[in-house]
Amino acid sequence: MSPSDVPLQVQTRIDELREQLHRHNRLYYGHGEPEISDSEYDKLFKALRDLEEQYPDMVTPDSPTQRVGYLAGQADVSLPPTVASATALKKVPHDRQLLSLDSVLSADDVFAFDKRVRKELDAEQIEYVVEPKYDGLSVVIVYEDGMFTGGATRGDGQTGELITPNIRSILSRFQCLKIEGNVPRRVVVRGEVYLRLPDFQALNRQLTERGEKTFANPRNAASGSLRQLDAGITASRLLALTCYDLMVSSDPLPRTHWETVSALHAWGVPVPDPAQRQVCEGIEEVIAFHRGMLEKRETLPFEIDGIVVKLNSRDFQEQLGEKSRSPRWAVAFKFPPRKELTTVQDIVVSVGRTGALTPIALLTPVEVGGVTISRATLHNVEEVARKDVRVGDTVKVERAGDVIPDIVERIEIPGEQRAGPFEVPRACPVCQSAVVREGPVSYCTGQIVCSAQLKGGIQHFASKGALNIEGLGEKTVSQLVDKFFVKDLSDLYRLTGDQLLSLDGFAEKSATQLLSAIRQSKTPALDRFLFGLGIHHVGHHVAQILASEFGALEKLLTVTCEELQDIRDIGPEIAQSVVSFFAEERNVAVLTDMKVLGVTVQTILRTTSERAGLLKGKSFVFTGGLESVSRQEATQRLQALGGRVTSSVSKRTAYVIVGKDPGSKLDEAKRLGISVLDEAGFLELLRAGGD
Ligand code: IVH
Repeated sequence: MSPSDVPLQVQTRIDELREQLHRHNRLYYGHGEPEISDSEYDKLFKALRDLEEQYPDMVTPDSPTQRVGYLAGQADVSLPPTVASATALKKVPHDRQLLSLDSVLSADDVFAFDKRVRKELDAEQIEYVVEPKYDGLSVVIVYEDGMFTGGATRGDGQTGELITPNIRSILSRFQCLKIEGNVPRRVVVRGEVYLRLPDFQALNRQLTERGEKTFANPRNAASGSLRQLDAGITASRLLALTCYDLMVSSDPLPRTHWETVSALHAWGVPVPDPAQRQVCEGIEEVIAFHRGMLEKRETLPFEIDGIVVKLNSRDFQEQLGEKSRSPRWAVAFKFPPRKELTTVQDIVVSVGRTGALTPIALLTPVEVGGVTISRATLHNVEEVARKDVRVGDTVKVERAGDVIPDIVERIEIPGEQRAGPFEVPRACPVCQSAVVREGPVSYCTGQIVCSAQLKGGIQHFASKGALNIEGLGEKTVSQLVDKFFVKDLSDLYRLTGDQLLSLDGFAEKSATQLLSAIRQSKTPALDRFLFGLGIHHVGHHVAQILASEFGALEKLLTVTCEELQDIRDIGPEIAQSVVSFFAEERNVAVLTDMKVLGVTVQTILRTTSERAGLLKGKSFVFTGGLESVSRQEATQRLQALGGRVTSSVSKRTAYVIVGKDPGSKLDEAKRLGISVLDEAGFLELLRAGGD
């Protein structure tokens, strides 16, 4: 049956359905403002699929049922992509494989590439386009009828991860292509998401302030920020995008790469800066461009790891074709890696907030990728031993982004005379207290007397996740400790305006602001306060558990290891650390001083264990469907209060909870005279026990 034999009503209905589905796709993915529910959408989709199954000749490649990629996959999911899976991004097949590039490192290799190309195309000279090779994350972006409708990561080239809302947050201004006249039905654009260096540095600073892990380089930061289930996080990260290819178009593609990028630019899609790309007549110009970019590399506000060399003519590209994973018409001409050799002049140790000693190598200054490096971290004692780094050794150092450089390896010099292996000092270099070893890390034991630990401890106490005292940055804290204004945490609440005014960088206004911030921190929540004390092994999560289990700081002063270990998630290490902290008289003295100075840690009215007692030993039976909570959640909430849920009614049943359409258990309850609760009564019971 050809389409002309299909009854007119069916043809009209199919057209209608397609138009509706296209429209709803645009509303949902383009604007994020759907007009119909997911199940209504599914109904339309199913109606179209059924008709197409009945009349296969009516199927067209651009039907919403046919598109591989970012939209067709949605029909079988009744939830929007961000919540389709709570733990992982949804996978989507790409329309076309996303190829990667072969790399070359030397001019000789580039000449060889050019020679092969010329031979195969039987051409004297080739026109190339050269662009920066952005060090980011490859993405594809789909526009339908000129509207952004979907985006995905490269993944393995065949299948990527659906990140539509995340890409939307980056695109904000470019969601709608600026095309006058004929708008292509569907285009798939490829580009790179990356993080500019100043934004990378700001992000890492922010993460440090929040006590979170920082990213090793802008690439990881871009990837971590983009591949988020919560697109709000992506939106907060100032990611940049540049597009360099039009992979698919329902209209004919421009005949050169340069024109393709120009078209994207004209449509309002971000493309590489014209000052950083060019058409080269022949391979010599390519090599000159590479040299020029290498020189410019350090002045660019983003990381590039080479240039990409592409044949400009699409006909030539098609003639050369591709291998299994990379095109034969393009190569990445990489820059030499940012690693350099230097020598270790000394190994010193620095002391952090927890007392952990970090060995640091002091290096003969060396320029690595445009930045002079004179220190590199050796992380911990075990790492020094593993890399066998000693004073006087020659080492290879690497710099990635703006992070502290790393020693990659030691280089053996034949016949060299080496110093003895690095030894951990027995006494803390800052306070002379004894040093102890815990696994790979060595610690200073002078928790309270060590000024290095005190500085770190104060910064932690004041950090956002703890007491959130604005204005207590590293420089201020360091001065406060060095001038002996702050000898322990309680001294923060004794600070005077005059003391602050005597510090570098303080004036009337900043001193008043800091004093007011300190005053405002005097009624901290228990969990934040516990976290802020910097007790070993007590992070946010453990602090929250302790707070809800014990409810008041005083209770923790006398807690035993056994009591602590009875709590879920608290193991012997944490328990021991908490008990030791509160057993230390000097710690308790500081807490008492704080109290006297007006610090009132908030108590929690009813702790987990008290709540758990409320329904202790009582058994419950459900019958019928609950409307506002699932059976599973209701069970969990009862159990949290100490209740038990059983399946049959007996004399020992405390309550039968009756939902919609109850079964015979209700009759049984009546017969045995067991109390019956409807859903509202049940929720009331949970509330009474829960707060
Ligand atoms: S073109 C078929 N152009 O480099 C052509 N890629 O090692 C494929 N990249 O996965 C890519 N800047 O993520 C191209 N100007 C540029 C690029 C670029 C960065 C990345 C891209 C790709 C990787 C290949």
